[in-house]
Formats: sequence, structure tokens, C-alpha cells
Amino acid sequence: MIAIEENKDLAPLTTFGVKATARYFSSITSLAGLTELLKHPVYQNNKRLILGGGSNVLFTSDYAGLVIQNELKGIAIKQETDNSIDIEVMAGENWHNLVLYCVQHNWGGIENLSLIPGTVGAAPIQNIGAYGVEVKEVIKSVTGVDLDTGLTKTWLNQECDFGYRDSVFKRKLKEKFFISSITLTLSKKLHRINTSYGAINDVLKQQHITSPTIQQVSEAVIQIRKSKLPDPTVIGNAGSFFKNPTITPSHYQQLQKTYPDIPGYNSVNQEVKVPAGWLIEQCGWKGKRVGNVGVHTQQALVLVNYTNGTGKEIFSLALQIISSVKEKFNIELICEVNIIGSE
Ligand code: FAD
Ligand code: EPU
Repeated sequence: MIAIEENKDLAPLTTFGVKATARYFSSITSLAGLTELLKHPVYQNNKRLILGGGSNVLFTSDYAGLVIQNELKGIAIKQETDNSIDIEVMAGENWHNLVLYCVQHNWGGIENLSLIPGTVGAAPIQNIGAYGVEVKEVIKSVTGVDLDTGLTKTWLNQECDFGYRDSVFKRKLKEKFFISSITLTLSKKLHRINTSYGAINDVLKQQHITSPTIQQVSEAVIQIRKSKLPDPTVIGNAGSFFKNPTITPSHYQQLQKTYPDIPGYNSVNQEVKVPAGWLIEQCGWKGKRVGNVGVHTQQALVLVNYTNGTGKEIFSLALQIISSVKEKFNIELICEVNIIGSE
């Protein structure tokens, strides 16, 4: 029997911790529970929003519909050879706990994605990435329930349309598909150790490690992240608030004339990826506090809720940042965080 709560406080369920309530709220712990919910009048008569760990959402007002929280748990081995293993992980498992579990079992592929908050089910949605690795590299398939028909469907990796912080689940399937599990293919030996991101090499060098294990890569990533990113249990945030933008080579060359130090990296379609953190810092925002909210002191890409900030305050700060970056560099920043308003 599923439970539906009313006027649920969402602040403790998101890493920004801003005040917001859900008109209706239901936590899903089994697929049978989800099937039951889909037949319920509260589901049928309201708009819906799926919530995982709340680490990539910003509520700018109360939510007038039904919030469905994913609490599906479990990990199962699907197939295994001497070299690799396929595991199916239920969507409500904690992502970082999964990384630690895989590292402990010496299953390689997601160690660079250590310490990313949130649930396993949300990982494919924006194709989480960090330190030279994206989750699309190990995803075999994504399974879930079509929320309009109630039918189960599995999307193979190549059907997920993965891109930088992007997938089919973020676009045409947004709020239409409840991800219930993902299947990952991980290595059991001959791991593809990826230390291409400079900071990882620096940490390993300091520790005199020349051929790191996946455990050592995971530990290095954890160390770097702890030094740069605010811990959401201490200070509200949702990681990078904006995506790193890409611009044309000619736009980049033109900016280099005025800003010879502007960083830029090769991206898809010959475009140049420019770190949004650098652009925001150049506009003077880094470490700035506006009332209850602000821009993190160590990482200009992270907006923070100091104490009792509202979603509206954070969003208003984001809009000011977008407009100053546009004015100074003629670059349009796009939010990575999912903004959930009253409309
Ligand atoms: P939520 O915030 O709950 O939801 C995010 C979106 O997915 C919403 O639109 C929601 O409706 C939808 N959704 C959630 N679960 C499901 C489901 N089961 N089915 C369908 N839709 C669903 N991200 C990175 O990529 N790389 C990083 O390095 C990184 N670092 C971070 C560091 C910090 C300190 C923080 C706070 C965040 C960071 N993030 C990073 C962002 C965030 O952790 C990821 O996007 C994560 O995958 C979000 O998971 P979640 O369960 O919290 O999703
Ligand atoms: N930079 C600055 N000032 C700042 C911050 C960054 O100048 O305040 C410049 C520096 O040039 C630095 C470069 O930006 O070398 C890159 O910074 P960093 O290595 O911190 O990475 P990022 O581009 O800011 C991205 C992801 C993070 C991910 C890290 C590590 C996006 C939007 N963000 O950040 O993901 O953890 O790389 O791979 O792609 C997230 O998505 O929430 C997230 C935290």
C-alpha cells in the first residue's frame, strides 16, 4: 500500500536546502508501489516530478503537484567473464556508495566519479562526469517505466543520446520516464586507469604513486573534490550551477585578443569549451555574497545558500551572473541545475 503525504517539506531532501513544499509526495520503494501509484487519482490529476537525492535541483517556489521520490534499492550481477562484469543497480541507490562498493570489489570504470552526490538513477540523466570520465562510458542500458503507459522499457547506451551533461532523459523523456535501474559494464582486470585530468596526476605524484590502482584514483579524486567543492551538508549547493559553454574558434580567437589568458579546451564540432568558472570569476563574482546566498569562494561555478536563502534569491543571482557574462564576453551561460518553479 503506497503512502501519499501532503504539504511535504522538501528542504531536507535537496542539497540547496531551500524552503519549499510539495503539495503531494510519495516515496517509491518497489516497482509494485510505482504501478499502484500510477493508478492513484492523486497521480492522475496532478503534474509530477521525480526526485532522487535532490543534488541537481533548485525549487524557486512550492511545488503544486506530486513529487515521486525514488527509493528503489538493490545491486545484482547480471553476467560475468574473466575480464568484465555487468551489474544492474536499482535507481535509488546512492551513487558514491556504489562507487565505493565497485572499488572494493576491484571493478573498474567509475572510480573517477567518486563523491558525486545523488542517486544512481539520476546519473544517466545528465550523463554525470568528472575528472576525465563520463558515466556513458560504462552504461550498458537504462531501464524504467513510461509514466504515461505504465510499460517498462530498456534503452541501450546508443539510444540514450548521451552528450556533455545531456541525454534523451533530460530532453524528450523529461518527467515522462521513471528510471528504475541502470546496467553498467565494469572491468575486472586491465583497468583503464584515467589520470588525464591534471589535478589527479599532481596528487598521485605528491604521494609518489606511479602506477595507481583504481582505489588510489578514487582516493585522489575524493581528496581533490573535498579541497574545491563545498560539502552540501555544511553549506547548501548543487555543484556546478552552469554548464561550461562552447564557442566557435573565431569567437575564442577574438576574446584572446583582449584576454590572452582565457582558458579553452577542444570540444565537439571543433568548438572551444571555456570554463564557466573562469568567466564568472573575471566578472568579479567569485566569493561575492548577496544577502543569504552567494558565489563560492573556491569555485566560482558553484552558487551557495549560506543560511535561509530562498530559491528565488539563488535564481536571481544566477540571472545576474548570466547577464554579466553575456555583456563582458558575449557568451550565454546555460544552467546545469534543474530549476523547478511554480508554472
Ligand atoms: P536530483 O537532483 O534528485 O534530480 C535531477 C534531475 O533528474 C531532476 O530533473 C529529476 O526530476 C530527475 N530524476 C532524478 N531521478 C530520476 C529517475 N529515477 N528517473 C527519472 N528522472 C529522475 N554532477 C556531475 O555530473 N559531475 C560532478 O562532478 C558533480 N559534482 C557535484 C558536486 C556537488 C557538491 C553537488 C551538490 C552536485 C554535483 N553534481 C555533479 C550534480 C549532481 O550530483 C548530479 O547531477 C546527480 O546525478 C544528481 O542526482 P540526484 O539523485 O540528486 O538527482
Ligand atoms: N576556474 C577559474 N575560477 C574558478 C573555477 C574554475 O578560473 O573559480 C577555471 C580554471 O581555469 C580551471 C578550470 O576553470 O582550470 C576548470 O575548473 P575545475 O577543474 O574546477 O572544473 P570545472 O570546469 O569548474 C567541471 C565540472 C564539474 C566536475 C569538474 C571536474 C561542469 C559544469 N562542471 O567543473 O562537475 O566535477 O569539472 O571534472 O562541467 C557538476 O557538474 O556539478 C560538477 C561539479
